[in-house]
Amino acid sequence: MKILVTGGAGFIGSNFVFHMLKEHPTYRVVCLDALTYAGNLSTLDPVMENKSFEFVKGDILDRELVNKLFKEENFDFVVNFAAESHVDRSIEDPDIFLRTNIIGTQVLMDACRKYGVKRFHQVSTDEVYGDLPLNRPDLFFTEETPIHTSSPYSASKASADLLVQAYYRTFDLPITISRCSNNYGPYHFPEKLIPLMISRALNDESLPLYGKGENIRDWLYVGDHCTAIDLILHKGKVGEVYNIGGHNEKSNIEVVKTILKELNKPESLVTFVKDRAGHDMRYAIDPSKTRRELGWEPTTLFNEGIKLTIKWYLENRSWWENIISGDYKDYYEKMYSNRAGEQ
Ligand code: NAD
Ligand code: DAU
Repeated sequence: MKILVTGGAGFIGSNFVFHMLKEHPTYRVVCLDALTYAGNLSTLDPVMENKSFEFVKGDILDRELVNKLFKEENFDFVVNFAAESHVDRSIEDPDIFLRTNIIGTQVLMDACRKYGVKRFHQVSTDEVYGDLPLNRPDLFFTEETPIHTSSPYSASKASADLLVQAYYRTFDLPITISRCSNNYGPYHFPEKLIPLMISRALNDESLPLYGKGENIRDWLYVGDHCTAIDLILHKGKVGEVYNIGGHNEKSNIEVVKTILKELNKPESLVTFVKDRAGHDMRYAIDPSKTRRELGWEPTTLFNEGIKLTIKWYLENRSWWENIISGDYKDYYEKMYSNRAGEQ
């Protein structure tokens, strides 16, 4: 089997590359990644010497390069992680989100049609369902929940989902889509809530919580996401959407307090800042279809996963210190200077 993993130098894609090489040692895994600010080649160091693995630097928007790669490799599976993934950046500048997340997906699917694949899997997100109110804990997103997006990021992911479903209906492209809740774990880029808070708390810096910190996210350890995608590729039904989530709902303030407690740092580091525009209140996935049809179960509960994650950030300081000492510094200044002290 030959598998193309796009966006494999990012957070979830790299964890998926490690997972596939470990669980399917006879597969050839090719990673195509443009190495944007979010991609980090050093993340793939542990597998660079693996004979079953190859890294190709390239953009999924580059049709010529993509077609050449598909022609040479004759892939069986394509798993598309490549995306612009940060909501705050999409609010600042939506343009690249529409190009990479929508048109990039189209370029990949056109190559799949041209050269033939057994499966094109689109890694989507629970954000395509919009949000749920805080006062209705009985409500969950199912695969039947209507698409209803809030940010340019989620709108671009939802657009891609619709396009993927159109390629199935119109061209019989063998697709599957997964919609997962918030991931956390090793190699998570420090602009996102959990790694941002861990890295800043370790440096005794203020922790910027948007609004009142009451928004709820449904956290899933990244390894559990990888296992689910592996199952969808091997056992999932073509044309179907699968929700992935582990019923680990936490408010942002709860998450941050847990991190501070684990690191033995004071809660006075928390600073409430101006809210995110259009901020989704609550995400909560109902994963029963994926559990019932594929036998998937998450194995890492939040209390255990957050400890593993903190341990990883403590043991891999150079990975995130390299990131926050570069262009990221300017990013943080730009994004957070106009939020400070406001609510
Ligand atoms: P990430 O930002 O950490 O990584 C994205 C990767 O894609 C980077 O390596 C980047 O270099 C690469 N990339 C970006 N544009 C590219 C292009 N044009 N061509 C080739 N490569 C390109 O993202 P992540 O958090 O690992 O998310 C991966 C996927 O999973 C995304 O599609 C995202 O929408 C989805 N997702 C993420 C989460 C989450 O909690 N992080 C949850 C559900 C779904
Ligand atoms: O639900 C899946 C989605 O989860 C993925 O599709 C996205 O790619 C991924 O980035 C993530 O989106 P969120 O917007 O939920 O993640 P983020 O880490 O940016 O924010 C989590 C929550 O924390 C959210 O309510 C906003 C809040 N927050 C975030 C940052 C960066 C803060 O309060 N302060 C911050 O500085």
